[in-house]
Amino acid sequence: MYSKEKMATPYLVFALFTTILNVQMVMCAPAASCGPIIADDRDRIQVALNLEFLEAEFFLNSALGKGLDSIAPMLTAGGPRPVGAKKANLDALTNRIIEEFGYEEVGHLRAIITRIGGFPRPLLNLSTENFANMFDAAVGYKLDPPFDPYLNTVNYLLACYLIPYVGLVGYVGTIPNLVTYTSRELVAGLLGVESGQDAVIRALLYEKANEKVLPYNITVAKFSGYISQLRNRLAMCGIKDEGLIVPLQLGAENKTETNVLSADANSLSYARTPQEVLRIVYGTGSEYKPGGFFPNGGNGRIAKGFLAKA
Ligand SMILES: *[C@@H]1O[C@H](CO)[C@@H](O)[C@H](O)[C@H]1NC(C)=O
Ligand SMILES: *[C@@H]1O[C@H](CO)[C@@H](O)[C@H](O)[C@H]1NC(C)=O
Ligand SMILES: *[C@@H]1O[C@H](CO)[C@@H](O)[C@H](O)[C@H]1NC(C)=O
Repeated sequence: MYSKEKMATPYLVFALFTTILNVQMVMCAPAASCGPIIADDRDRIQVALNLEFLEAEFFLNSALGKGLDSIAPMLTAGGPRPVGAKKANLDALTNRIIEEFGYEEVGHLRAIITRIGGFPRPLLNLSTENFANMFDAAVGYKLDPPFDPYLNTVNYLLACYLIPYVGLVGYVGTIPNLVTYTSRELVAGLLGVESGQDAVIRALLYEKANEKVLPYNITVAKFSGYISQLRNRLAMCGIKDEGLIVPLQLGAENKTETNVLSADANSLSYARTPQEVLRIVYGTGSEYKPGGFFPNGGNGRIAKGFLAKA
């Protein structure tokens, strides 16, 4: 069913490399990579603006077959059109939910841009091939046929599992560092809806947790675990991401294997730094090396600052 031979995609090589690196990091414990960074409110919130563009284009195009260029062209500020985004083959219920999520992202973009200032939409890679590579990296071999996020509802929900959660943990990491009331108010509002979106996606997937994702011999729950582990490997700062079914020690109060929400030992949301978020969405495990959803990297001072040091 699967060919395990061709493991040479950059993601796979990278996944193996980071596994080795993780082991080494535990041994030599370098400090910098998971620590806080110095930045002002605007710079911090603009890291998230990159992700809001990503979500807006993914949701809108998948539900409606058109994105920001049709719906809210002003918000793009002339940034390039996303690559590979298209209408997904969704059941009616999921399509309505994703359409709503897409319009919510339009509101988020407008709120961020009008309140703190924006930048042009970064180049986004929403191609089937990009998702396929990420799923290959998650499972650790080349899926055959390649994973297609736009093929059907379950595939699409798994592809969605990749994205809002990263925004959520980024916002949780951002809020304690914000200085002004206005920024905290804005990000609290963004976090609320972002976590709601993630919860809906996870709940829809949990209903199918034990179903195989055809034609692969992998259940929905297994895929969720692989994706969460991939994000933990890419971010390189320990476990901050958990699948839909987990060992008891990762469940709520060590009492449940059901893990509809991903959270820490006190059931508080995990937090990620901007570096961790960029390592994940670049798919490279490095905030200095763009790729994945952002072939040219993110915009804003923090993302650009890392790219300039590459
Ligand atoms: C999008 O990703 C695919 C798969 O990695 C790659 O082949 C393609 O060149 C990327 N497109 C852009 C514009 O970076
Ligand atoms: C599918 O996976 C299960 C458990 O992961 C395994 O026991 C079974 O042999 C696999 N079936 C095929 C056809 O590969
Ligand atoms: C759950 O288990 C972990 C160790 O795996 C432990 O640190 C934690 O205190 C336990 N939590 C509860 C509520 O028992």
